[in-house]
Amino acid sequence: MLQDSFGRIHDYLRISLTDHCNFRCTYCMPQEEMEWMPQSKLMSKDEILKLAETFIQLGVKKIRLTGGEPLVRKEFPEILEHLSHHPVELTLTTNGVLINKHIDALKKAGVRSVNVSLDTLNREKFIQLTRRDNLEQVWNNILLLLDEGFRVKINAVALHGLIEDEICDFVALTEKQPLHVRFIEFMPFAGNHWKSKKVVTASQMLTLVEEKYSIEKLEDKKHDTAKKYKVPGFAGTFAFITTMSENFCAGCNRIRLTADGKIKNCLFGKEELDLLGALRKGEDVEKLIRLSISRKHKALGGQFDPDYLKANPDQIINRSMIKIGG
Ligand code: GTP
Ligand code: 5AD
Ligand code: SF4
Repeated sequence: MLQDSFGRIHDYLRISLTDHCNFRCTYCMPQEEMEWMPQSKLMSKDEILKLAETFIQLGVKKIRLTGGEPLVRKEFPEILEHLSHHPVELTLTTNGVLINKHIDALKKAGVRSVNVSLDTLNREKFIQLTRRDNLEQVWNNILLLLDEGFRVKINAVALHGLIEDEICDFVALTEKQPLHVRFIEFMPFAGNHWKSKKVVTASQMLTLVEEKYSIEKLEDKKHDTAKKYKVPGFAGTFAFITTMSENFCAGCNRIRLTADGKIKNCLFGKEELDLLGALRKGEDVEKLIRLSISRKHKALGGQFDPDYLKANPDQIINRSMIKIGG
């Protein structure tokens, strides 16, 4: 069991399969052309499986595959298939473009739930945000997932000036479809030009929704990142991930493994321990994992407070999201 010094049990591992992506979202990767990590520095398929097995032996019950974009990793189907033989819930966060190519592999591996990133329903805005013209494919793949019986969450990063006039359109999607839309407060990462004025908080978004709909608060679970609501009678739900305005660190059960094999005990934590290096040298990986968990801070999320930012400027120096995996 991986318990930290605040009594939180860590049983949810997010593995980044690659730092590559077929999109170029401005909030996720530095505007300047990215320097991809050399292949030799990335975990091989076998190394991913070995490290995943170690985590499973230490009590991990849920594994989320992330990226970059996890589906651009050529060995994705094999990795998924191997992981499916372990007693873990498997899931992924994807931009959705390649879902149709992998739908059978997802079904075969017993994946039940998929989170798809989609920040706008407008084609022009989609091109502006992702620098790709793939809105139609993403939407068709969301419908495909629903048709095939998957639980689908849509992650929409809330960017000031872009999200406000679409919030109700996203909520409207949940009327007929059992979709779960989650608006995420924009977070600071290296190179993503974060400014506090670009953040739209959950309470600002809620006000906009309430101008159109009467809504009901749903119960949240201990480890949830999102605060859930629904419009009574609608098939789906909507929620806010309050990464900036109200941290949810108290219920954190998450550990991250980057594509180059570093363990991060917190999305905002600077410390990374090199599990891949240890594995390659034949050193004690389990000991390093335990060390990382033991050093986890009580809370690092929610630095919206300008005083906090001033006092802790180094917290913003974090790898870009594409390199962490979200
Ligand atoms: P579920 O398991 O379906 O609830 O998904 P999730 O919210 O754990 O994962 P997802 O990849 O869909 O992430 C949604 C958003 O929540 C992303 O912007 C993540 O970066 C953010 N998020 C996930 N885990 C954490 C965390 O531990 N801390 C913070 N601050 N944000 C997180
Ligand atoms: N702030 C908030 N969410 C972000 N994501 C990527 N970058 C950011 C950011 N700066 C989201 C992606 C994906 C999830 C893993 O994180 O859209 O859905
Ligand atoms: Fe790719 Fe997702 Fe990052 Fe966009 S947010 S660049 S889709 S990894």
